[in-house]
Amino acid sequence: MTKKISKPGQLAEDFFYRPFTTLDATSKWWQDRKNKWLGIGFRSDRGRRPSMKSMGSAFRVRETQQKTKSTTIPAWSETSIFDPVLAEILYRWFVPAGGAVFDPFCGGSVRGIVASMLDLHYTGLDIRPEQVRENQKQAKKILLPDMPKPIWKVGDACGKSLYRIHRGQSDFIFSCPPYGDLEVYSKRKEDISNMPWDTFVGALTHSIKQACTQLKNNRFAVFVVSDFRDKNGMYRGFPDIVRQAFNQAGLKNYGELVLLNALGTLPVRTRGAFEKSRKIGRAHQNVLLFVKGDPAKAIADLGDVQCSDPLLKIMPESS
Ligand SMILES: C[S@@+](CC[C@H](N)C(=O)[O-])C[C@H]1O[C@@H](n2cnc3c(N)ncnc32)[C@H](O)[C@@H]1O
Repeated sequence: MTKKISKPGQLAEDFFYRPFTTLDATSKWWQDRKNKWLGIGFRSDRGRRPSMKSMGSAFRVRETQQKTKSTTIPAWSETSIFDPVLAEILYRWFVPAGGAVFDPFCGGSVRGIVASMLDLHYTGLDIRPEQVRENQKQAKKILLPDMPKPIWKVGDACGKSLYRIHRGQSDFIFSCPPYGDLEVYSKRKEDISNMPWDTFVGALTHSIKQACTQLKNNRFAVFVVSDFRDKNGMYRGFPDIVRQAFNQAGLKNYGELVLLNALGTLPVRTRGAFEKSRKIGRAHQNVLLFVKGDPAKAIADLGDVQCSDPLLKIMPESS
């Protein structure tokens, strides 16, 4: 048997992307791939009020508001869109063919639409009906009739009743929860982005426990998070809080990847913060990977990484 060469290029060819702990969203390959995904027309920013700002811009919104005592949102703010390439890589690596994905804090349409394009069965929950409606509209426009339809439901990730429907049925838990109140999505009392910090931590921990009851044994879970600062400028330790919540739910830490974000306006924002307080511009997010049960059995069910391009089904000229 010929042994395969393990150069980064060969790894990327065999596993769609090189399986190292850094994912480089600043690279040309990543940006090209992302543009192809965006080309299919999802508008994951839709479904939120104009005042709901992206994780990155939320820092700027808050800083500007504190400086100017203003509550208006500056024109340079934009709304965050989950990276479709990140979703694609994680689905290919950690979900068995035709598997069911459960997303307790779904937000926009990206994770649902990418799942369907890869023939996965996605169910996402969100507390805001307007977001769910918008996601459904987009899926209808984009997906072909023979693709699985993503299901989005209005529901509370911390509530019990909805969870009875899917108990133990999911092959992958995948989400990007609110990062405290950095981005406040609504005034609903169940919206955890609207809660004081301690209540937020308790609610998120509970929602993770609930979500993990949806997961079959011998399966993986991923939460995409970042750290952020409290009002005294100190890090909250958010990735640790999420890790502890998964551990309390009985899952084990199986890996962590660092997503290097495209820099956007970070250089401009970092200059002032660094000069004033030596705060380092945060250019990454943490992709936390957990396993429920036996990883060897989980991996046996995954099979080989699929590298075929689902975008060709929608845009044959995109290769
Ligand atoms: C981080 S966001 C999504 C933004 C993200 N960048 C995206 O589109 O993937 C998290 C979502 O959690 C939702 N949410 C907040 N509290 C919730 C709850 N108790 N149950 C379900 N969803 C909730 C918010 O409405 C928001 O859409």
